[in-house]
Amino acid sequence: MHAAVGLALISLLILLLLPFAHHAVLFGAEGLGIGTLRDTYLIAVDAPFGNLAISGHMLAGAVVTLLAPLQLIPWLRMRHPGWHRWSGRVITLLGLVTGAAGLVHILSRGTIGGWVMDLGFGLYGLLLMLACVQTLRTARAGRMRDHRAWALRTFWLAIGSWLYRVHYGLWYLATDGLASNPDFSGTFDLMQNFAFYLPYLLIVELWLRLQRRGV
Ligand code: HEM
Repeated sequence: MHAAVGLALISLLILLLLPFAHHAVLFGAEGLGIGTLRDTYLIAVDAPFGNLAISGHMLAGAVVTLLAPLQLIPWLRMRHPGWHRWSGRVITLLGLVTGAAGLVHILSRGTIGGWVMDLGFGLYGLLLMLACVQTLRTARAGRMRDHRAWALRTFWLAIGSWLYRVHYGLWYLATDGLASNPDFSGTFDLMQNFAFYLPYLLIVELWLRLQRRGV
């Protein structure tokens, strides 16, 4: 792909990610007692430790969501390798915080959608943590082909949480919420617990295979 087209696409993506990252930062800050807390089931006024997990999760996740796409811009990598390396370390650290804090929230309070959502989001958290660590490990070992593969997986997982909301937005626009309900037990809701990251990871795997075969 032409470099200018790639840059335009990533810039557009970051513009689209900004409202979600903004939402996550505001919500996370409210959970930590900064600003007026919105009406929400996610923050319990009498349980500060649990709030720390979900709030820290949102704040760290916002940074990961915005930094991960920037890593894919070739000229940024080549002209500012120091930025790429430090940003990579920050993404790994905060990806681990996002995933681990999300898992603490799931294990301590459970999700609104029950065990299927616990499972879908639990797997999502574990995969994000694995991908972040592998992306950094392979870079440090100089295994650049593996690094690129793990970086792509990390990218799709990093924007997964945003994709989850995009899927819902598009679905509600198209169907007015068919097979979806407030307790997240509709068929669409159940599928969504995995559909915001597994299909994308599958496409990445297929693409990597084609590349390895030189297609
Ligand atoms: C990658 C960046 C991520 C961001 C920016 C993010 C942001 C958020 C935000 C803002 C919420 C509050 C609900 C809402 O307003 O939509 C939330 C809830 C939640 N997130 Fe994340 N998240 C990210 C990744 C993850 C990961 C990797 C996991 C898996 C462990 C996860 C698990 C959860 C869970 C379980 C909830 C509560 C669901 C509920 O019961 O309503 N998130 N997240």
